[in-house]
Amino acid sequence: MNEKVSVIGAGTMGHGIAQIAAMSGFQVWIYDIKEEILFNAIEKIKQSLEKFKAKGVISDINEVLSRINKTTSLEDALKNSNYMIEAVLEILDIKLQIFKKAESIIPDAEFFGTNTSSLPISEISRELTLKEKVVGIHFFNPPQLMKLVEIIKGNYTSEETLNKAVIFGKRLNKVPVIVKKDVPGFIVNRLLARLMNASCQIVENNVANIVEIDSALKYKLGFPMGVFELADYSGIDVFYLVFRAMKERGFLGSICKTFEKMYEEGKFGVKTGEGFYKYPGKGIYKKPDIPAEAGSKFDPWLVVSPEVGEALWLIKNDIASESDINTASMLGLGYPKGIVQMGNEFGLTNVKDRLKKLAEITGKKEYDYLLQYFE
Ligand SMILES: NC(=O)c1ccc[n+]([C@@H]2O[C@H](COP(=O)([O-])OP(=O)(O)OC[C@H]3O[C@@H](n4cnc5c(N)ncnc54)[C@H](O)[C@@H]3O)[C@@H](O)[C@H]2O)c1
Repeated sequence: MNEKVSVIGAGTMGHGIAQIAAMSGFQVWIYDIKEEILFNAIEKIKQSLEKFKAKGVISDINEVLSRINKTTSLEDALKNSNYMIEAVLEILDIKLQIFKKAESIIPDAEFFGTNTSSLPISEISRELTLKEKVVGIHFFNPPQLMKLVEIIKGNYTSEETLNKAVIFGKRLNKVPVIVKKDVPGFIVNRLLARLMNASCQIVENNVANIVEIDSALKYKLGFPMGVFELADYSGIDVFYLVFRAMKERGFLGSICKTFEKMYEEGKFGVKTGEGFYKYPGKGIYKKPDIPAEAGSKFDPWLVVSPEVGEALWLIKNDIASESDINTASMLGLGYPKGIVQMGNEFGLTNVKDRLKKLAEITGKKEYDYLLQYFE
């Protein structure tokens, strides 16, 4: 295959995206601002490819690596490319410069994709001539392992571009879900924002503690991690900044005060050695002690109910289909079943009762707002 993919940014996400594109047979050019960053990216790719080889997923590491070229020249990275995926820092101006350059160098590209977590696709494309070719292609960390990719239609994205991005996602061996409107947080981060903030508010209101909630989510509902465990693992800073960006752009939800406080105090979780739980040292992970019996008295639906409300909001506003939301919650959050399916099995009337209770306990208007979507 001679099709070329340009991956702009070789950090956490960029190197993983470059790797999966090369594993899928594309010729890949990866760009970053410094040689050293590119060198480290290739080293990380090699380590990951070793693991794939050990599992028998690939047979020849060098064959995959031979398809990855690195450069600090944006022009070289883009020249003659068929697809661009941008994964640089979450700063609008930096992204804008890259997209402007891309449309001038490769106007015939199939699409210009952005991996942004919190910036609107429409804002990235607004000043461009080829607005219709800009699309959100939101991978999950680590892209090498996470099957889900959210494909987001911005205000200017054409149907043709959207379809090309879906096909591209499948060619990378991912499962694409479509986000039909450019809403803050897309699907997965909106669901997570509901669960995390509700759980945190429940703790602030002294209804349950973090271990009780985490235990109930894991052992009663089969979630892969407790919500506080997840916040620590992925970084309280990461979630706080995404939630804040979502809220600034119109997401109707309050950010729990504890999150803000921990962010300000630099208690980010595993990476700083302390978050909701304590760790042996900075960046040293030890699974928190969350006994199965700790959650026996806590009803996890109290904190999961706003996620179901959010899912209904997404469906009723024609932003995502029920089946895509179910897929996103299973592949993006690791739930044993889709969130809508879980809600239906528990009974929407029961979910609604829990949401009413959550609204009463917290006094937050977003929960009253979500209640109308159960009608
Ligand atoms: N980390 C995640 O879990 C995650 C998940 C999904 C999406 N995202 C999104 O992916 C994007 C990248 O995130 P990340 O976690 O990989 O960040 P990162 O900080 O690990 O990597 C960003 C890279 O961009 C490079 N960069 C900085 N300035 C640049 C410039 N002017 N031109 C080109 N490259 C430049 C940096 O050198 C760095 O290597 C962001 O938009 C983020 O919101 C992140």
